[in-house]
Amino acid sequence: MSTTSQKPNRNMNVIKVETKPFEGQKPGTSGLRKKVSEFAQPGYLENFVQAIFNVLGNCQDKSLVIGGDGRYFNRAAIQTILRLAIGNGFTRLIVGQGGLLSTPAASCLIRQYQTFGGIILSASHNPAGPDEDFGIKYNGENGGPATEAVTNQIFSQTQSLDHYLSAQIDDIDLDTLGKTQVAGVTIEIIDPVADYANLMESIFDFAKISRLLQRDDFAMCFDGMHAITGPYAIEILERRLGAAAGTVINGVPSEDFGGHHPDPNLVHAKELVEKVNADPALVFAAASDGDGDRNMVLGKNFYINPCDSLAVLAAYAEKIPGYQQGLSGVARSMPTSPAVDRVATVRGIECFETPTGWKFFGNLMDAGRIVLCGEESFGTGSDHVREKDGLWAVLFWLNILAESGKTPQQVVTEHWQRYGRDYFTRHDFEGVDSESASNLVSRLRQMLPQLIGQTYVGLTVASADDFAYTDPIDQSVSQSQGIRIQFAEGARIVLRLSGTETSGATLRLYCDRFEDAPDRLQMDPQQALAEVLQAADQIAQIQQFTGRSAPDVIT
Ligand code: G6P
Ligand code: ZN
Repeated sequence: MSTTSQKPNRNMNVIKVETKPFEGQKPGTSGLRKKVSEFAQPGYLENFVQAIFNVLGNCQDKSLVIGGDGRYFNRAAIQTILRLAIGNGFTRLIVGQGGLLSTPAASCLIRQYQTFGGIILSASHNPAGPDEDFGIKYNGENGGPATEAVTNQIFSQTQSLDHYLSAQIDDIDLDTLGKTQVAGVTIEIIDPVADYANLMESIFDFAKISRLLQRDDFAMCFDGMHAITGPYAIEILERRLGAAAGTVINGVPSEDFGGHHPDPNLVHAKELVEKVNADPALVFAAASDGDGDRNMVLGKNFYINPCDSLAVLAAYAEKIPGYQQGLSGVARSMPTSPAVDRVATVRGIECFETPTGWKFFGNLMDAGRIVLCGEESFGTGSDHVREKDGLWAVLFWLNILAESGKTPQQVVTEHWQRYGRDYFTRHDFEGVDSESASNLVSRLRQMLPQLIGQTYVGLTVASADDFAYTDPIDQSVSQSQGIRIQFAEGARIVLRLSGTETSGATLRLYCDRFEDAPDRLQMDPQQALAEVLQAADQIAQIQQFTGRSAPDVIT
C-alpha cells in the first residue's frame, strides 16, 4: 500500500476541493463511528473517504462495493462516496439497491466480484436517527475489515489531508436495478440479497432445513429489529426455505431502526425472548443486529450464550454440507469463554485466541489456519466471508436442528455433558466517565505483577497480564488488548474498555468458570459466577471507580 496522492479520474470533470483535517477520525474496533451531526459537517465524510483512497494508492480503473445498513444518512453518504470514488479513478461501482447491504453481504460481494475492497456504512448495533450514530469502514480485497496497520495509516492520512477529489455529477438513482454509465464509469445497482442468499444455499442443506420448517411441531421466529436483515431473512427463510409468512418480525428496515437499539441480546431483543417463551408453537428464535453481522439464538426458555454457540457449531461442523471436509482450526476472541477450545482439543485441531475485533481473524482465514471463529459479543462466522455473519449462524443452527432432530436445549445440554460447561457472563457499565474508567484500568495494570498468588473470595490468582497478541501470520503485535486474570480454580476475569463507544466509556467485565460435575451443569450463570464477580469487584474496585452498584447490561 502506498500513501501517495491520487490522480483525478481522467474521463471526468473532477474538482480538487481544499480541506483541513478534522480531529478524532481514528477508527475504533470496527471503523469510524460518530454522531450523525459530526459526520454531516461539510468535508468530514469526504476527508475520511479520501484518506482511505490515499492509503489504497492507485485506484485507477478499480472496482468498489458500496452499501450500508440503511440507517439515517446512509443515502446521502453513498452519494458523497460515489463522487469521491469516481473522482479518484474507480471505474466500476457496485451498490446495493436503496444503498442497502448487510455487512456479511458486502463481504460476500467483494470476494465474489473481486473488487478493490468495499466501503460499508454502519454503526452496527448502535441506535440510528438524526441524533444518533453513523459509521463507515473500509474492507479490503479479501472482504474483511482493514487490518490495524491499514486503519492506522488511514488515521494518519486524516491528520494531514489538505484536499479531496470529487467528481461533479448529479445524484445517482440508487433504487433502480441495473447498470448506468457515467462518462466511462459503470455504476451497478444490484439486488442486495441474491448473491448472499445463493452463497447460503451452497453451504447449508436447504432441502433438509425446509422439511424441518414445514413440520407441524416446529416453528421459529426471526427478529430483523427494523434493521438490515429483514429483507435477507424474508428471502431466505420465508421464500427459499418456505417458513410460514410472518416468521420474520420487524422485517422492514427503517432509518431509525424503529427507535430501538438493534442489538440482539436479552435486553434489547426482549420482544423476541417473550414471544418464544410464550408461544407454544415456537421451538427456536433468533435475531440479528443493525448491519446483520451479529446473532442471538434462543430455544424455548433457553438462552444460548454466544460462547457456547460457537463451541456447538464447531462440534457439529462436519454434519453441514459446506464443512464436510472438516475444520483446519478455530479461533475466538480473548474475552470469549474457552468452550470452543475444548472441542478443538478433542478434535486435535488448532485453536487461536485473538484480541476483540473481527479484523484479527482475517489473516488466519486467508492462511487457511481457521475455518470457524466467534466472539462473546454475539459474533459467529466462518471463512465463507471475512465478516461475522448473523443469518449464516441462524442457518447453521437450523441445519443442526434439522440434522439432529433435537431441540436447541437438548443440543446444548448434550454438548455440556460431553465437554463440560464454561459458565460465562459479561457485565457492561455504560456511559462511565472516561477518566474514571481509564484510571481503573491503569491502576489494574500497575497491580498485575503483585496479584499473582493472592486469594480473593476463595479464588487464587494463577496468572495476570495485559493481553498482547502477535499475529501468527504477519507477526504484527497488538498491545494492551485487555486485562486478564486467571484463577487456579478454573475461573477467569477479563476487563477492557469498549472500542465501539461514541460517547463516554463502557467498561466491560467478562467472567467465566469451568464446571464438569454432571449435577452442576444447569445453574444460573449469575449464581455459578457469583464468587468470580465478587472477586472482580474486589480487585478492580468497579463500584468505587464507576459509582455504579450494578451493570447496565448483562449478557
Ligand atoms: C464490533 C466488532 C466485534 C467486537 C465488538 C465489540 O461488533 O465487529 O468484533 O467484538 O464490536 O467491541 P467492543 O470494543 O465494544 O467491546
Ligand atoms: Zn454489527
